[in-house]
Amino acid sequence: MKKLFSLTMIVALLAVFVPVVSAAPPAQAQEYIVTAGDWLSKIADKYLGNPQAWPAVMQATNQKSLEDSSFAKIANADLIEPGWKLWVPSTEEAEAFLATYDPNKPEMLYATGAGGQLVVGSWWTAGGEAEGLNGMFRIYREKYPDVEVVNATIAGGAGTNFKAINKTRLIGGDPGDTFQLHAGLEVEGYSPEQYLEPVDDIYASEGLEEAFPADLLTLLEYKGHYWGVPVNIHRSNVLWYNKALFEANGLTPPATFEEFTTVAEALKAAGITPFVLGTNEGWEAGHIFEDVLAGTLGAEKYNGLWTGDTPWTDPGVTEALENFKMMISYANEDHPAQTWSTAGEFLIAGTGGMMIMGDWTDGWFTSKGFTGYGWAPPPGTQGIFVALSDSFSLPKEAPNKENARNWLKVCGSLEGQEAFNPQKGSICARTDCDPALFNAYLQSAMVDWSQDAIVASVAHGAAAYESWATDYKDVLTLFVASGDVAGTQAALQQACVDAGICQ
Ligand code: GAL
Repeated sequence: MKKLFSLTMIVALLAVFVPVVSAAPPAQAQEYIVTAGDWLSKIADKYLGNPQAWPAVMQATNQKSLEDSSFAKIANADLIEPGWKLWVPSTEEAEAFLATYDPNKPEMLYATGAGGQLVVGSWWTAGGEAEGLNGMFRIYREKYPDVEVVNATIAGGAGTNFKAINKTRLIGGDPGDTFQLHAGLEVEGYSPEQYLEPVDDIYASEGLEEAFPADLLTLLEYKGHYWGVPVNIHRSNVLWYNKALFEANGLTPPATFEEFTTVAEALKAAGITPFVLGTNEGWEAGHIFEDVLAGTLGAEKYNGLWTGDTPWTDPGVTEALENFKMMISYANEDHPAQTWSTAGEFLIAGTGGMMIMGDWTDGWFTSKGFTGYGWAPPPGTQGIFVALSDSFSLPKEAPNKENARNWLKVCGSLEGQEAFNPQKGSICARTDCDPALFNAYLQSAMVDWSQDAIVASVAHGAAAYESWATDYKDVLTLFVASGDVAGTQAALQQACVDAGICQ
């Protein structure tokens, strides 16, 4: 008899018509006790036949822990500990969850408490900043124990990755409850009148206009409203150095660009990388250069760059680019592979001498237990404080608006700011924090903040619209590779023209 179907044809037909099922038979929901060497995807694979079903295990466990506190609360999928009790959902439940799961919405992995959730978006994952944020969460949880706080961070310094994802969610009408927003012109990029809610009433009820300095209030106001509550003041222009190396080589931190060359040559002769930086995330060169611009032009001319009063064709900008080029000539060659914090490791290890980075570095050093660092204003910026401030905002479509409003109150409060800033490596936005809670570096920043000329950071959203700031950062990242002073200056001028500020 002629065979109508070959075996291979039958297998092929089955593959088309029979839905793919996991190799394991469907599992019932069950408890699981974590043992050494376990990780979530391994458990998902074992019980649900699919390692990628780990989010379903995390979500089910977190939800279960609300009813029964003997179950673990999983805050970080990568950190589960032996002895923890998990709840593995049934195959059917897991499939139902995974069908709607969106990895850009970390809140889906967490439980929803009786008081709902509070989804806080930020990019604070590094040492120091993560702890600072937790300090504010602790206070919030004490006040609102029924609310599940979701730490919806997306790693990447200066918001490199966070901002784009956040914007997509905001525009899609699907935001978290509150997110990190720099004080200043950055807010324009979020079309606040369309997507955010003014928080003027919180300023009024919490007395925030009396709590923050006038200059900060001016920076925060956009189109007649406040769109965020600030938690801190950061300083962009800090030169960090390894104290032991400087002492061993009889060096003091350079106050001028000439001195920078002398110090760098001495460090080089001693076999140390004089200047460490990372340019991996595409914002760091722009950050350092804003400090070089301020140090070369002075406060007034630096400010003029963002208002059109100082042309980008100014010889001072040429000089700043030459200064920056000189500094880069002393840098670690692998900077494209490094970030600000991995570059900082060289300073800790004593293989790198100096680094220019914002004062979140102070929080990071502290979190690493490193105390051998010194600080000084980078060349030319004595008496100048390049400032930025982080605030939290209120999306119009925030799903848990009341929770978000309460969060903003914690952000603006004295106890919130005192819990956050000493660990974050920033000073309070409020003027009444207790200096005794802060380390020596931060105490010095407080003094400088009160007496220096304050200018706005462009790399961190204060001085210019987001689109201009992005162009500026891109141009500087290219400069680090090309060293083309004339071409870079022309591109910076063009960015100013495109921003509608220069002719
Ligand atoms: C800034 C932010 C700081 C810190 C830094 C490094 O934009 O304002 O708080 O997080 O990025 O990521």
